[in-house]
Amino acid sequence: MSDTPTGRRFRSQAWFDNPDNPGMTALYVERYQNQGFTRRELQGDRPIIGIAQSGSDLAPCNKIHLFLAERVKAGIRDAGGVPMEFPVHPIQETGRRPTAALDRNLAYLGLVEVLHGYPIDGVVLTTGCDKTTPAQLMAAATVDLPSIVLSGGPMLDGWWEGKLAGSGTIIWESRRLLAEGEIDYPEFMERACASAPSLGHCNTMGTASTLNALAEALGMSLPGCSAIPAPFRERMNMAYATGRRIVEMVLADLKPSDILTRQAFENAIRVNSAIGGSTNAPPHLQAIARHAGVELAVEDWQTVGFDLPLLVNMQPAGEYLGESFFRAGGVPAVMGELLAAGLLHAEALTVTGESIGHNLAGERSRDRRVIRSVEDPLREKAGFLVLRGNLFDSALMKTSVISAEFRHRFLAQPGREGIHEARAVVFEGPEDYHARINDPDLGIDETTILFIRGVGCVGYPGSAEVVNMQPPDGLLREGVTHLPTVGDGRQSGTSESPSILNASPEAAVGGGLALLRTGDRVRLDLNACRLDALVDEAEWEARRAAWTPPVLHHQTPWQEIYRRLVGQLADGGCLELATAYHRVARDLPRDNH
Ligand code: FES
Ligand code: MG
Repeated sequence: MSDTPTGRRFRSQAWFDNPDNPGMTALYVERYQNQGFTRRELQGDRPIIGIAQSGSDLAPCNKIHLFLAERVKAGIRDAGGVPMEFPVHPIQETGRRPTAALDRNLAYLGLVEVLHGYPIDGVVLTTGCDKTTPAQLMAAATVDLPSIVLSGGPMLDGWWEGKLAGSGTIIWESRRLLAEGEIDYPEFMERACASAPSLGHCNTMGTASTLNALAEALGMSLPGCSAIPAPFRERMNMAYATGRRIVEMVLADLKPSDILTRQAFENAIRVNSAIGGSTNAPPHLQAIARHAGVELAVEDWQTVGFDLPLLVNMQPAGEYLGESFFRAGGVPAVMGELLAAGLLHAEALTVTGESIGHNLAGERSRDRRVIRSVEDPLREKAGFLVLRGNLFDSALMKTSVISAEFRHRFLAQPGREGIHEARAVVFEGPEDYHARINDPDLGIDETTILFIRGVGCVGYPGSAEVVNMQPPDGLLREGVTHLPTVGDGRQSGTSESPSILNASPEAAVGGGLALLRTGDRVRLDLNACRLDALVDEAEWEARRAAWTPPVLHHQTPWQEIYRRLVGQLADGGCLELATAYHRVARDLPRDNH
């Protein structure tokens, strides 16, 4: 039996070097040495470092990791570790039907089993596309082995006819121009492809850039990791440094439970406001917190995050894309600005073994056009509002993307600032929306509020990004580019739509949205943070009594398992029973023969 330089036995030695069961040790060692690992590597004083590989041909947003893994392995070896790369279930946002959200929890489950069941002492989490980051952080939180995030980084900036063309954002804009008859379909396709010029994830501040920024804000990646564009040499340097660092973390036994504290989550919520982050951040951060055993609630997004200013001038809330954000200093610069204003918990610990305050001493914006200061922000009070009412217990509204024109049209009636009463038009999912949105009988005008339901975790299944519905073509041609939209699903983090979304509980489990009918009056009151159907109590109760749950069509076994176990978006959309498991690495699995 060999001891480590720190005098500690590694977890992997329970497989490869177990004097109590030499027969099993032989079985474990012979089948790993057959691929070329020496017995010295497996049975010596070196930690085994897993590289959770999320890139593949099916997962292009993360494919850069297939190339970065070489640099990660070099770093691991130079620090004295033994790297072992293994696949993560693909979660490609733009490829997976019915929605990649369905696979966040599946990849989570798979990664928990791999980390628990194999001889791994620490792990590099290769993140990028939207759900790949939370899925792996959720697993790291459950297992609690030393873990570090390596972001793949955004694509290079996209350009179309001399203007920046941002991932996703240009799709929503071009979809509107197509409906207005301003462009034809071949141009739509050209514009879309121009926005994706290289390997990497979305170059806007969509869900991918948001979640990678929040992983850094949580302290789970090296400082500066998230914003480096995927093809840059700095990205390869970061991969090497991350490989080196995870070995040191194993030697120091620095685990997610040391880093993922309530303070870390509050820092992440504040950073999300400052970057103009995605409305997908709340359910994902909530899920990570629950698996880490940290108390967090959807209301925290308003109480902790609403008052924070928007500092980052990046699409969809602003103008620039990932390359400019990186050159302006990325997340360390944003956090440096917030720290200087006393808006972060400076003492929160990170994967460096040092605090946020220590890591970011002196970091400030290097380009004020892209990253502003707290004294001179792009917008004050840029966080999320958490709404309630008789239609749901909670729903979110991202205020940083609400245009001045929209505010004026809907929310600035004299004497009734922030209050809007309207007629509701209700759609049963995206198919119904596409089929009927241009139907003149619906009577949609510039004051209508559009609702969509049946698109939450249970209903869809997986919760779809469909709440950002665009107005009928006729209204678009009149210049009405946005109507308020409400739903129990989500919307793309690259959308600048002023939606009220993630409504929980969803209609499919009997939330108030299920009772709404086209033609009902509703009142949106942003001062009181309420959205209510103006239907009298007796009528509302009669509708509730008459409601029956929808018959759900499961297409695969996983869809059925997911629907049976999943909770609501406000609670993170977790597999509820999984949230009871914590620090499972401590409970070593039995031998397999
Ligand atoms: Fe993968 Fe946006 S679609 S990052
Ligand atoms: Mg999306």
